[in-house]
Amino acid sequence: MTEAGSAVPVGKKLVSVLAGERQAVPPVWLMRQAGRYLPEYRAVREKAGGFLDLCFNPELAAEVTLQPVRRFGFDAAILFSDILVVPFALGRKVEFLVGEGPKLEPLTDAAGLASLSKTIDQTIAAPVYETVRRVKAALDEQTTLIGFCGAPWTVATYMIAGEGTPDQAPARMFAYGDPDSFQKLIDTLTQASIEYLVGQLKAGADCVQIFDTWAGVLPQAEFERWSTLPTNKIVAGVRAQVPGAKIIGFPRGAGAKLWRYVQDTGVDAVGLDWTQGLVYARDHIQTLKPVQGNVDPLALLAGGAALDRQVDEVIEALGGGPFIFNLGHGILPQTPIAHVERMLKRVRG
Ligand code: CP3
Repeated sequence: MTEAGSAVPVGKKLVSVLAGERQAVPPVWLMRQAGRYLPEYRAVREKAGGFLDLCFNPELAAEVTLQPVRRFGFDAAILFSDILVVPFALGRKVEFLVGEGPKLEPLTDAAGLASLSKTIDQTIAAPVYETVRRVKAALDEQTTLIGFCGAPWTVATYMIAGEGTPDQAPARMFAYGDPDSFQKLIDTLTQASIEYLVGQLKAGADCVQIFDTWAGVLPQAEFERWSTLPTNKIVAGVRAQVPGAKIIGFPRGAGAKLWRYVQDTGVDAVGLDWTQGLVYARDHIQTLKPVQGNVDPLALLAGGAALDRQVDEVIEALGGGPFIFNLGHGILPQTPIAHVERMLKRVRG
């Protein structure tokens, strides 16, 4: 069956958009689509033990990866794991405390940095690749499997502070005070990210996304040095080992710095956060590369007319070009399932 107006009748819709095609009905997935808003996730999470135990259990991690695809028919599955698996595989202590988020042993000085492994322990990463293989085997021909990592800057903010911080002040201060040491940390994370993404792609991921959740706190020059440049090195390094690898960048909060980010990183598509202007995105970003986003996760939580209006505005602005429908950041744990269903009906209807 050929869908009227759709450029690619068969195959993976999301991959076709990454290649620059417009789809009449945009492919849809949601950041953090596997998670606590789903009762079936909470049930698996309870029996898995700790959060990292779940990330490193291929059977259970594959199951929670598939849950939202089964329930909602999303066009993509995103590997269930976490960006902080990389510091763990570099030998850092990483814990997830219920209700508190991640806790790491803070990296405060050059001595701490010297104790960091230079490459990831592939025996630690191996169960993640096994999860990718299992999910790939379970997905149908149309559904895309997305792998991911955190961008070096965002991962570094957690490694330095040891936890999430409101404005990433510890990492920013470290980078101002000792840029040479900070550069070494970013370089180590860049190499580790390349190896980790290549492992996921070789295991069967159709594309990968680089989450730079805290890019938005950086001034222009720092943004270029700590976000854009390392992302460009990851893109080039991954493609040197996996030619043609498809990569989505998500520099949350980049604002008007997004145009240069897209030009300079070489990503195939870019995620827009919910604050990004739709007219700017259409006229200046989508003319360069496919875009993904960007409904406010709080509009999805609110539901009703506010949600409907945002869905319509996003599709109206971006649906005329290569576009992947998504939120502008991760779905919130309190989100009612009925709101997700309502949104999907509107996007596809
Ligand atoms: O998107 C998906 O469904 C795939 C899984 C995924 C998780 N984390 C699972 C997770 C992905 C892609 C991530 C990325 C991630 N992790 C980011 C970047 C994107 C973003 O959301 O900003 C960041 C910054 C992290 C670090 C992290 N992990 C934090 C700050 C927290 C605690 C906050 C929270 O939501 O609880 C986590 C824990 C985490 N990662 C959970 C999930 C489902 C919740 C833990 C639980 O189930 O107990």
